[in-house]
Amino acid sequence: MDEVRAAYQSVLSELNLIWGEDLSELRDFCPSALPDKESYLHFDPVARPMLNHIGTCRSQTSPAFQPLVNAIIDRAPQFHWIRSYKSEHGVDADFLERYAYINLVSPAGPFVSDDTRITIAFWGAGLIYPEHWHGPEELYAVVAGSARFRATGRAPRDVGVGDFVHHESNQLHATDMILGPLLAVIGWKGGELLTPPAMDVEQTV
Ligand SMILES: [Fe+2]
Repeated sequence: MDEVRAAYQSVLSELNLIWGEDLSELRDFCPSALPDKESYLHFDPVARPMLNHIGTCRSQTSPAFQPLVNAIIDRAPQFHWIRSYKSEHGVDADFLERYAYINLVSPAGPFVSDDTRITIAFWGAGLIYPEHWHGPEELYAVVAGSARFRATGRAPRDVGVGDFVHHESNQLHATDMILGPLLAVIGWKGGELLTPPAMDVEQTV
């Protein structure tokens, strides 16, 4: 197995170990996402500046999530890190410096699922992830750090390791890493799974 596939497999294996326990809400949300993924597509590694910051999450997790967080951080240089936003979306240079995510499971791979997407996302402490929305509903599982989540129709909520946050299809939502950093495993289902979220700087929650 090549080094890149071994890196993705390492994270998938750590997820599998806690999928039915500490991540049972995520399993119930997208039961077909794991455990066995035989269909794999290669992505070349893409480095982003956040690789200099993700290590801050290592000391901000729980014993149950430590092996998963270690695998993500240790293998981070092998992953294809993506940023859905550019400066014209209203995010600043600091956001672009300290944010990125990877696909772990999606219709396009690296592990292939037609109806589910699993992303792993990092935001540095103090960042504001502005209001946005998307067709698929999503469930955040916080595996390191903490954040304040805002969404239409409910009060802001401060969450930490082991907490889950759900967003409905097209529900306007935002995240403040006021207590961050934040490292999250995020399940997506329904809608166009690979369409980037929409962001409108005029909208607030
Ligand atoms: Fe979202």
